[in-house]
Amino acid sequence: MSDPSDHPSAVRTIEWRDGSVLMIDQRKLPLVEEYVTCSTWEDVAEAIRTMVIRGAPAIGVAAAMGMALAARAARELPRDGFTRALQDATKGLFSTRPTAVNLGWALAEMEQVWRDQALAPKAAAEAMERLALQIYEDDVASCRSIGAYGAELITVEEPVILTHCNAGALATAGYGTALGVVRAVFARRPRLRVFVDETRPFLQGARLTAWEMLHEGIPADLITDSMAGYFISKGMVTHVVVGADRIAANGDAANKIGTYTVSVLAKEHDVPFYVAAPLSTVDFAIPDGSHIPIEERDEAEVTHIAGSRVAPEGVRVRNPAFDVTPARNITAIITDRGVVLPPFGAGLRGLAAEPLSKEGDPCVR
Ligand code: MRU
Repeated sequence: MSDPSDHPSAVRTIEWRDGSVLMIDQRKLPLVEEYVTCSTWEDVAEAIRTMVIRGAPAIGVAAAMGMALAARAARELPRDGFTRALQDATKGLFSTRPTAVNLGWALAEMEQVWRDQALAPKAAAEAMERLALQIYEDDVASCRSIGAYGAELITVEEPVILTHCNAGALATAGYGTALGVVRAVFARRPRLRVFVDETRPFLQGARLTAWEMLHEGIPADLITDSMAGYFISKGMVTHVVVGADRIAANGDAANKIGTYTVSVLAKEHDVPFYVAAPLSTVDFAIPDGSHIPIEERDEAEVTHIAGSRVAPEGVRVRNPAFDVTPARNITAIITDRGVVLPPFGAGLRGLAAEPLSKEGDPCVR
């Protein structure tokens, strides 16, 4: 496992504990720091569905660990029973949240192991545990790499970065994607400041990003989503950096609802708009963002705030959890393998086809 200092206050987002998975309950943060223990893949699926754990890369890591739990529970079964149990777990975990591509990606990685007929169930279960831990470790390394590439891009002395949702340590195995860039820039430019969109309806910005920034001593102002245009139009934001749940082959990027609005504001006011995500967030199977499934969540997230009703009973509600920012609004995509400039299609494909570039040697396309 990685250095606990990757995490705010040494709090771990998710951890494998020899036969169970521990997660900090992100529904209760920042008021309560409580851990949930998942002993079965069904527990993990429920934790993903109910947002105990959220954020595309963290969902992928959780799904991999959920599969490791499923394999451990089925390892004494004959091969047929083992395969059936893992098919069920894959289906159950896949159905939890549709938008983040990391979920399907992690399940496909695990499937390559349990489908391997050369491995007896017990050996497959052990290999799956090792792979789940590897996916965890790789995610932290990816985030650090995204941070390093991002810090090469943001070179003004006093950057003011606006971010939406939480693409931080809590949304990943550690360090974060968009907040990985913020962390890496802050290490070089201590006069950095951050605007944190509160991110209605689930308030990932107000609850999670604000908490991470406070714990790291990074100066941050929390604003409501509707204030972003005010600060951007006054020239008070130098860069926007957000994460992504799925990036289509042409660079269209799905992220938390409200991200598209920020991208339009950034374009209108000539503010660079960066999407930070590992290359595993790119779904090369879909040509553009119109193919990205958008999750619709419970209406109570809109009608209620912190459990209290604020809208009248009986009102009709819509609650899409994500929107798609078109590639034309994105200045650059900061991946763990390098920075991609428009047009994104060829650049993303090129990065995916190439062996890893030398660490610390930013690769710009
Ligand atoms: O609904 P959530 O909280 O899972 O949405 C999270 C986001 O939109 C993040 O910005 C995205 O997953 C990137 S996380 C590194």
